[in-house]
Amino acid sequence: MYRNLLKKSVSVILLGIWPVGLLAGPWPFIQNMVDQPSIKPQETVHPLPPEGAVPRGGLWEPKRTWQEGEQVPDPLPHTPEVVRHGEQLWNRYCTPCHGPRAKAGEGAVSRLWPALTTPDLTTAFYIQQHRDGYYYEIIRQGHVIMPPYAEGTRPFDRWAIVHYLRVLQNRSQHP
Ligand code: HEC
Repeated sequence: MYRNLLKKSVSVILLGIWPVGLLAGPWPFIQNMVDQPSIKPQETVHPLPPEGAVPRGGLWEPKRTWQEGEQVPDPLPHTPEVVRHGEQLWNRYCTPCHGPRAKAGEGAVSRLWPALTTPDLTTAFYIQQHRDGYYYEIIRQGHVIMPPYAEGTRPFDRWAIVHYLRVLQNRSQHP
């Protein structure tokens, strides 16, 4: 009789403690392998390799300013395949902020967060002022508050995005 009561009260106490443990979250002495100082998916390592680093693969490019980038010639032909590839990447990487047409503030992020309002990249200023290499360098390094896209894209991808941006600019001038 007493033993039964004892068993019951022990289980009631344990069941009572259980949700408290869940609410309190992980205990300090419980270690999970996920919590370690490794680089997580989508985390930035280095937009550019550190000073003096030696490349082992073929994707490394020298450090350039945007203005120096302007002098780099566009290696891609303006073919439908290149434009289509650029369109896919534009929709993936740039549309959230710049919108599908590269017009000012049309992206979902710009609309939600006015501090990230994007400029209209289809104005005569942007069409005439900069050569393809400038845009390539902006994609690679980012701009003042725009994040860099060097990590998620290959050089071919970045040039393709520039080709698609040119299509968007052209479309806005001749609707
Ligand atoms: C997180 C939001 C965000 C994303 C994503 C983004 N941009 Fe931007 N971008 C901005 C903002 C904000 C500005 C204006 C302020 C600045 O220059 O930092 C800008 C400016 C620019 C400029 C103008 C630079 C100049 O000379 O004034 C270009 C070109 C550009 N972005 C291209 C791109 C391309 C191409 C992509 C996709 C690979 C992209 N952006 C993705 C936020 C973004």
